[in-house]
This record gives sequence, structure tokens and C-alpha cells, in this order.
Amino acid sequence: MKRAHKIILLLVLLFGLVITAVFLLRSSDRTITTSEEILGTIPANNTTQEVGFDKNEFSTTDPASLWVVTNKNRALPDDYAPELGVPNVRLRLERTAEQMQLATIATPPLEAMFAAAEADGVNLVFGSGYRSFALQKQFYDGYVAQFGQEQADTFSARPGTSEHQTGLAFDVTAADGSCHLQICFKDTPEGVWVAENAHTYGFIIRYLEGKEDITTYQYEPWHLRYVGPKLATELKNNDQTLEEFFLLL
Ligand code: DAL
Ligand code: ZN
Repeated sequence: MKRAHKIILLLVLLFGLVITAVFLLRSSDRTITTSEEILGTIPANNTTQEVGFDKNEFSTTDPASLWVVTNKNRALPDDYAPELGVPNVRLRLERTAEQMQLATIATPPLEAMFAAAEADGVNLVFGSGYRSFALQKQFYDGYVAQFGQEQADTFSARPGTSEHQTGLAFDVTAADGSCHLQICFKDTPEGVWVAENAHTYGFIIRYLEGKEDITTYQYEPWHLRYVGPKLATELKNNDQTLEEFFLLL
């Protein structure tokens, strides 16, 4: 090979090496989201910036998906039940009560959140988690009998449309039971703590204040829904409901 050809070949190789090095450096800057983070077994690092957000990463229609959107227009199959477990936290009722269960996918993040709250001196209580179609019917029918259907529809989901049936939602309550299922819960130490920290563990306040027309339910500062830390952080940062984020209005 001529000397001039050798030099050109060397230059081409060098150029290739530089391009590869730049590419590798740039990709290591990206935020890596592990599957553990998505599932919530470790808290999301919300100090780093995500590169884009893939809204199609999980289904919003599959009842078993952590991003399933259930509302008055998006019912679940009547007989749907997730894989369930009883979280190892302070329970409001006997551990054999149906409502003291949660979808197993959300149980470790819930336990991590309760432990973190306790470390901050806040004692959360697991008030009501999974509710089957039959149990939700019992609740809803009771509220309709007491308050009438129009009012009941503002705070209780008709059977088949409750997030509680997914096992991904639960009502949190204060250790002393104060403001149980009342809006004043937001001002209790427990209410303040979950509003500030729940997203880190993958939970959102599902029915936000000022978004009643969108969610079609009253503000419920006690009703938390598991969506994973990445989406929970995104929704909190943007003050958005699931309906707004997924354009399901
Ligand atoms: N309180 C909520 C809307 C439910 O009944 O599922
Ligand atoms: Zn609830």
C-alpha cells in the first residue's frame, strides 16, 4: 500500500473512533429507568430529567396494567380481580377483611411508603384497598339509599367502575382516625405527608382539588392510586390527572 493510502486509512479509523467515543459519552448521560423503578421497589430519582416520556409504555385499558385508567366511562370487567396480598402495614380492619388487600404489584411500594412516613414521625393507616364488584355494589347502594344517586355519584363509583377493583388504589387514613374520608384529611400530618411524598413511591392523589369536572369526583386527598414512580412524578410536576395526561377527556 502506498504511504498516502496508509495515512488516509489511519485518518478514517481515527475519525471512526472519535465518533464512537462521542456517541457513548452522550448515551451515558441519559436517565436510566430500571424496571425496579417502574414497579416502585426503589424510589424514582426525581432530580434527573427524563429524556421524553413514552406514554405508550404501558396499556391504559388492560385492567392489570399499572397505567389502567378506570372512570365513569371506562368500566372494568365485572369479574376482574388482580393478584392480591395483604400489605405488612398498620391496617384499619382485620387482616381477613377483603378491603385489606392490595394488588401484589403495589404492595412493596406501599410498604416502603408507610415505612418512610413512619421514619418522618407520620403514622399512616391502610384504610381500604381492593374492593370486588360485589363489595363496591354494597357500598354504592348504601350511599344511594342514604344520599340519593346524584350525590352518591360525586364520591362513590358505581360497581365495575371503581379503581379499588383494580387493587391499585387505596384510601389512606390518619393514625387517630381524624378526618377519615373527609376533605379536612388534607390538613392532617398524614394528608400533608402523602401530598408531598407519595409520588416518590409511585402513588398519585387520583381525585385532585380543582379538577372535579375532569375526574367527575369530589376532591379526595385520601384516595391514592399506584401508577409507578415515573408517571406519578410526571403527573405531580404537571399537576395533571390521568385523564388529562392520556388525553381521555
Ligand atoms: N371514592 C371512589 C371514587 C370510589 O368509590 O372508587
Ligand atoms: Zn378510594
